[in-house]
Amino acid sequence: MLHEQIHLKLEDTINYGSYYTPKSIVDMVYNMLHQNIINFSEYIIMDTSCGYGNFLRNKNSIGADFDDTAILRAKQQNPECCFFHHNSLHNVSRRQYNLTPADKLIIVGNPPYNDTTSLVRKNLKQKNSEIDTDLISRDLGVSFLLSYNKLEADYICVLHPLSYLIKKTNFESLKQFKNNYILIDSVIISSGEFSSTSKATQFPIIIALYKRDKQGMSYENILDNTFSTKDGPKFCLRAWDKLSNYITKYPNKNEKDCIAHFYTMRDINALKRSRTFIASESYNSIRVSRDKLALYCYADVFKEYIQHIPYYFGNSDIIISYNEFRKLQDAFMQKSLSKYDFLKHLLPSNKVYDDTVIRNYFKSLLGEYYEDLES
Ligand SMILES: C[S@@+](CC[C@H](N)C(=O)[O-])C[C@H]1O[C@@H](n2cnc3c(N)ncnc32)[C@H](O)[C@@H]1O
Repeated sequence: MLHEQIHLKLEDTINYGSYYTPKSIVDMVYNMLHQNIINFSEYIIMDTSCGYGNFLRNKNSIGADFDDTAILRAKQQNPECCFFHHNSLHNVSRRQYNLTPADKLIIVGNPPYNDTTSLVRKNLKQKNSEIDTDLISRDLGVSFLLSYNKLEADYICVLHPLSYLIKKTNFESLKQFKNNYILIDSVIISSGEFSSTSKATQFPIIIALYKRDKQGMSYENILDNTFSTKDGPKFCLRAWDKLSNYITKYPNKNEKDCIAHFYTMRDINALKRSRTFIASESYNSIRVSRDKLALYCYADVFKEYIQHIPYYFGNSDIIISYNEFRKLQDAFMQKSLSKYDFLKHLLPSNKVYDDTVIRNYFKSLLGEYYEDLES
C-alpha cells in the first residue's frame, strides 16, 4: 500500500494541499474512533479529500477527491470502496453521495488547509474556485469543516491545524460547525510528522474527534479544554497569561507617545521568524510608548527563548508571568535594548545583569514545558 503522495509536482502539492497522512497517524484516528463510538460497524466512513484513500479501511467507505490521478490509485488500493471524482466543496449534500438522512455517517481524513504564511502559496492560484457560498472561508480547511456540518455527519475525526480552535478569530470563523459540534477527544501532533513539510518551524496539528451536538462549542470551552500531546504533557490554555493582555500586537498609528518601533507580532512561530525592534516606522510596525517599552523588551527577549518552547505552543500568543516579569523588568530592558544601537539611549542604567536571572524566569514560567536543549 502506497501512503506517500508521489505523482504531483511541488507546486501542485502545495496548491492542492496534498500532504498525505502516514499510516501511524491514520491508526491513531481509528483508535480514537473505536474508543469513543459504540456500534462503530453501523457507520459509513467517508473521506471527502481522500488522496490515495489512506483513511479508507472497510467496505462501507466512501472516498472523494478532485485529483484524478489520486482517485485512480485510490480505486486500485481500495477496490471495495465507493469513489467520487469531484470538487467536494461544491453542491455539497448527502444526496451527492447517495446517502439518506437516516444513514449513520463518520467523516475521517486530513483536509487540505491554507498556510497563508507560506510565501510559495501566496503566488499560487487556488484550484478550488467553485465553493458553495455557505462554505466560503479564508482557509480551505475551514471550508471543509463547514462542509462536514452540511453533510450532517454524526462524528468527524480529522486532522487540522490547532490554530483553528485556539485563535479566537479563527474559532469564530467556524460558524455553523462550532454551533453543531462538540470536541469529545483529541491529541496533538507536530506538523514535522509529515514528510516534505518544514522541520524548521513546526506547528501543532490536532487529531480531533467531534460529535454532532446542538449545544455546540464556545471559545470558553476551548480555553478550558485539556489538550493531550502525542509524546508530551497535557496543557490547558486557561492556565497562561498572555502579553497581548497588556500591549497591542498590531499597528497603532494613533499612538502619540512613540519612542521606538516594533514589528507586528502574531503568534510564537511568527515571532520566531520576524524582526522585533526596528529603527524606523513602517506600515506594519507598532508604535511603542514609554510606559510599554519594558513589555516590548520582554517580547524581544522571549524570541531568544523560543527554542526552549515546545512546538505545540507555536500558534499561541506570547506568554508571560506578569508579576514575576515586573520584578525583573530592568534586566529584560537591559538585555534587549543593549542589542540595538538605535535604542541604547533608552537603557534604564548601565548595570549589567546576570543572564541566569532571565533564564530562571523562563524555566519557571514554562515549568514542565521548558525544553532543556542540553539534556
Ligand atoms: C492533505 S491531502 C489528504 C489525502 C488523504 N486523505 C491522506 O490523508 O492521505 C488533501 C487532499 O485533498 C484534495 N483536495 C483539495 N481540495 C479539494 C476539493 N475541493 N475537493 C476534493 N478534493 C480536494 C487533494 O487533492 C488532496 O488529495
